[in-house]
Amino acid sequence: MSLGVRFGLFLAALSCVYLVSGVDRNNFKTCEQSSFCRRCRKVEPGKTPYKLLNTVEVRETDLSGELFNQDTGVAYILRLTGLADNTYRVWINEKNPLHPRFEATFALQSDPVPKKIKLIEQTAEYIVVGTDHTKAKLFFNPFRIDFYRGEQLVLSANARGLMRFEHIRTKPEPKPEGEEGEKPAETNPEFPGDGADSDPGAWEENFKSHHDSKPYGPEAVALDFSFIGAENVYGVPEHAGSFALKSTKKSDPYRLYNLDVFEYEIDDFMSLYGAIPVVFGHGKESGTSGVYWQNAAETWVDITSSADNNVVESIVNFVSGSAKKPQVDAHFISESGLIDAFFMLGPSPLDAFRQYTRLTGSAPLPQMFSLGYHQCRWNYNDQDDVRQVAENFDKYDLPMDVMWLDIEYTDGKKYFTWDTRKFSQPLEMVHNLTEKGRKLVVIIDPHIKRDQNYFLHNDATNLGYYVKHRDGKDYEGWCWPGATSYIDMFDPKVRQYYIEQYNLDKFTGTTNDVYIWNDMNEPSVFNGPEVTMPKDLIHYENWEHRDIHNINGMMFTSATHEALFRRSGGSLRPFVLTRSFFAGSQRYGAMWTGDNTGEWNHLRISYPMCLSLAVSGFSFCGADIGGFFKNPDNELFIRWNQAAAWLPFMRQHSHIETKRREPWVFGDNTLGIVRETLKRRYAYLPLWYTLFREHEISGIPVIRPIWAHYPTESAAFTIDDEILVGDSLLVRPVLEPGLTEVSVYFPGEGKITWYNIDTMQPYKQPGAVSVPVTMERIPVYQRSGSIVPKKNRSRRSTVAMKNDPYTLMVIADDDGSATGTLYIDDESSFEYRHGKYLYIRFTLTGYKLTSNFMDKLATYDTKSWLERIDIANPPKNIKSAQLTSKTLGIVELEAKYNTRNNVLTVRKPGVNMGEEWSIELIH
Ligand code: GLC
Repeated sequence: MSLGVRFGLFLAALSCVYLVSGVDRNNFKTCEQSSFCRRCRKVEPGKTPYKLLNTVEVRETDLSGELFNQDTGVAYILRLTGLADNTYRVWINEKNPLHPRFEATFALQSDPVPKKIKLIEQTAEYIVVGTDHTKAKLFFNPFRIDFYRGEQLVLSANARGLMRFEHIRTKPEPKPEGEEGEKPAETNPEFPGDGADSDPGAWEENFKSHHDSKPYGPEAVALDFSFIGAENVYGVPEHAGSFALKSTKKSDPYRLYNLDVFEYEIDDFMSLYGAIPVVFGHGKESGTSGVYWQNAAETWVDITSSADNNVVESIVNFVSGSAKKPQVDAHFISESGLIDAFFMLGPSPLDAFRQYTRLTGSAPLPQMFSLGYHQCRWNYNDQDDVRQVAENFDKYDLPMDVMWLDIEYTDGKKYFTWDTRKFSQPLEMVHNLTEKGRKLVVIIDPHIKRDQNYFLHNDATNLGYYVKHRDGKDYEGWCWPGATSYIDMFDPKVRQYYIEQYNLDKFTGTTNDVYIWNDMNEPSVFNGPEVTMPKDLIHYENWEHRDIHNINGMMFTSATHEALFRRSGGSLRPFVLTRSFFAGSQRYGAMWTGDNTGEWNHLRISYPMCLSLAVSGFSFCGADIGGFFKNPDNELFIRWNQAAAWLPFMRQHSHIETKRREPWVFGDNTLGIVRETLKRRYAYLPLWYTLFREHEISGIPVIRPIWAHYPTESAAFTIDDEILVGDSLLVRPVLEPGLTEVSVYFPGEGKITWYNIDTMQPYKQPGAVSVPVTMERIPVYQRSGSIVPKKNRSRRSTVAMKNDPYTLMVIADDDGSATGTLYIDDESSFEYRHGKYLYIRFTLTGYKLTSNFMDKLATYDTKSWLERIDIANPPKNIKSAQLTSKTLGIVELEAKYNTRNNVLTVRKPGVNMGEEWSIELIH
């Protein structure tokens, strides 16, 4: 192809993908256009052809048996394993497969910890195995598995009989002419077959102008899971929809297929950039349980609920004893791979979330800077632009930690190079930032420009590192640089090579203060089917792209994470932002919700999107502030900043064609409000940091739905415009224009009082309450009985705050008690893993507030001291306070009531945070 023709094609692809306004749904498949989804969705509930032979064997930690498909005569191996923490794993594969099936075990942080199970009961119909707390009852024929927590049935697999495991088969010979329409003959006349061969899409499939050669034919797997007693189910991110999943009875299923969806709209079901195949069911009576479907191929998930009209009877009757209970079912359908499902039996929401992160890992503690504010746009034009923007943050007294560079910093979109005209002195630019305690993040995309003057392209071509066509030729697609190929990160040699490219002597112009943004890693291919790679391309060890698609993005971020770790000699915690992700991606960095739009409904959806990610193990989530596309007006810009300040990852970013939107371009009033918003973000960083550390240890999400802590308050089960930050703050952003009041749901059934953090006004009335709002701030409340650590001094970045003193915001409950935690370390290195940290618990009981180390052996030499204690709902008639600590001895302190907001302030205790202390309130 001539260069001109290529360029023409590129522009055509670009205009179809990147210049049209609004999502072009025709670019993306529906279930009906996808043969495996169509076939699996057609399975009628009620009659499963699978039976489990009663020759099962129970050993130490697992049960193994053989499944038999009575329609096809195909045999399968089933293994059920007991795992630590109320979890089971069910793994099913063909007994004699014609070729291996891909297993997405890369998602697991390590081999799951097995747990002994024992045989509890066996009859002609079923076998029961389990532990003292949980059990699994496997029915032989029809095959079904029920999971019990104690005596309570909470989850069931194949209760609706929708299991389908298409065995790998040889391609039927083409029919002689005139017989094409006839039903294909199955190999054994005893078995009617599974009907897959007669599906015209089974052995090859077209979508628009794309052809999928499907050399292995039909190989889908599907299984249904019933959450008994659940009123709602949650999870399966990423979708731009409500947190509580909707019934798909009248729509397409939720789709999990990592795609670059241009100008995505608010839609519950369409695929976006990332996929986490985990779903949690929750009900007032049933508690929480979850299923993690470990499969990296394209997956669709149907949700049906007993609340759907007419479905009640037909579903619940399959599970005995559940007729009066609510129930929600999730039917997972994957194009290839095998069945590898994990059952997490709770009982509480936090138990189930933790059980999932015990499998796929929690996020390692990020550096403090990454919890600060990030300033990005496509693009900061040159090094002067970067300098000026950073200087303006100082000039306008706005805290900011990180400047970002998008693709235009490179030499013609050749990653690991610089545009030396615009960025002639990158090291100086980095130095200007680090001098002020700031960092730089630069983008590295996975597509490689096919340019003979590009070392990476030459290396990848010569060394055979590109993803290939079936005939062995390098695959070529289109992306930002024009003609591109894609290195195959599944190959350990390629991974090694890629990691080395980040070395400081190779990626010159960067330092250890430069961190990385991996974008377009779905992968995005502008002229590919559904804007991604053809499924019949070949990766390392002959896996088809079909098998590994959803894990592709994670292969890049895990390698980048490792590269950053190595290039700092293992001393600094990496920071990587990714657009594409899979189960387990939380171990490697942060994610953002991609190319949203500067419209109110996109601001609104950022909360349910991040909530859904958070319960699915991925807390480090944010959305482009102001929207990637379009220009927000002042009000939307203000509200977006205010909302984003309470999501874990806070970054402003926008499209190359948008107007500049640094906070000062909106005029003084908006600037002032955004300044206060950013300062508030920074004041609460000690809390965010503590929550991230607690997430790392316990796996529980940093931000949480209300029902995570109030699991019996049914009214909160569908609330997703309000979140809990940890368990102490309740945040209700303003998500519509022109509002002077919003409805806030106060959980706790009247036993908890919520204090507005700005006014200290208490709210005791439970349930939905209309509260007034001004433009200046959004309503945020602190729970009675909690203690929140803060740093109130205003600084330009987190580095400058490191030694600043702490303030404790204490809210006494009705009994005069409160507790809270604070985690302190060097904020950047891995020394904390060698005991260099402080983990402190503060406790107020009546007249005494104490600070105690939770890990007595850990130490950290902090310069920070305690500056102030504010106690809301304080004990009466306090005259003064008395501090006792080892180094200071006994110190008399001033204690003063503020009658306006009923807060008692103890000033300047002055004690270093590195020692334990107590403060007596003297009355
Ligand atoms: C993609 C990203 C966006 C980025 C752009 C250019 O659209 O989602 O954030 O600015 O590519 O790199």
